[in-house]
Amino acid sequence: MKIFLDTASVSEIKTANDIIPLDGVTTNPTLIMKEGKDYVKTLKEITKIVNGPISAEPVSLDAEGMVKEGKEFAKLHKNIVIKVPMTPEGMKACKVLSKDGIKVNTTLVFSANQALLAAKAGTYFVSPFLGRLDDIGEKGMDLVKEIKEIYDNYGFKTKILAASIRSTTHVKEAALIGADIATIPFKVYESMFNHALTDKGIKQFLDDWDTLQKELKNK
Ligand code: G3P
Repeated sequence: MKIFLDTASVSEIKTANDIIPLDGVTTNPTLIMKEGKDYVKTLKEITKIVNGPISAEPVSLDAEGMVKEGKEFAKLHKNIVIKVPMTPEGMKACKVLSKDGIKVNTTLVFSANQALLAAKAGTYFVSPFLGRLDDIGEKGMDLVKEIKEIYDNYGFKTKILAASIRSTTHVKEAALIGADIATIPFKVYESMFNHALTDKGIKQFLDDWDTLQKELKNK
C-alpha cells in the first residue's frame, strides 16, 4: 500500500520524507487554511520535496470553474492531481480533466454507489472518508471493503485512496483490505513507528552494553 501524507505542512512533509520517501501528498482547503500560507506557493514547495501525486483542491462548485482552477493547478507540476467533490458537477469536471490527461482524485466519498459513479466518470483516485463515517456511528472501513469488491468485480482501474484516517488501526485495516493508498495525518504517521516493546528492547540492549563495559573495565 502506498503512503501519502495528508497535510499542507511543508515541515511535516520534509520530516516524513527524510525517514522514508513519501509516495504522495493530499491537501485540501482546510489543511492549507491551518498553515495560513499561499496555496500555489505551498504546492510548488511540496512538488520539490515529494516525487509522487500531490492532490490540490479547487473551490468552485460548478464543473466549468473546477476545470479552470484544476487546469491552473495542473500547470504547476506534472505530479499535481485535481481533487473534485463527489457531485454531478464534480463528475462532469472529472470527465473533462481526465480526458485532458489530468489525474483526478474524487473526494468526499461516503458510499459505494458514489465510488461506482466516480470510477465510471474516469477518476484516477477515489477517496472514501473513513473517519468522518466513524464520527457519525457508521463503519468507515466497511466502505473500503465494498469499494474494493465492486472495483474487483468489474475490473475498474481507479485507485482506492483511504482518506480521513484517524488512527494506526485505520492504516492497518486499509492495508489488510487492499486499499491502494492510505493518506495519513502526520501524527498518525509518527505513531506507526511506535511500539512499547521496541523501546523496552532498545533500553535493555543499552543497559546490557553498559554492564559489559563496566565488567571489562574491572577485569
Ligand atoms: O484527505 C481527506 C482528509 O483530509 C479529511 O480528513 O480528518 O478532515 O476528516 P478529516
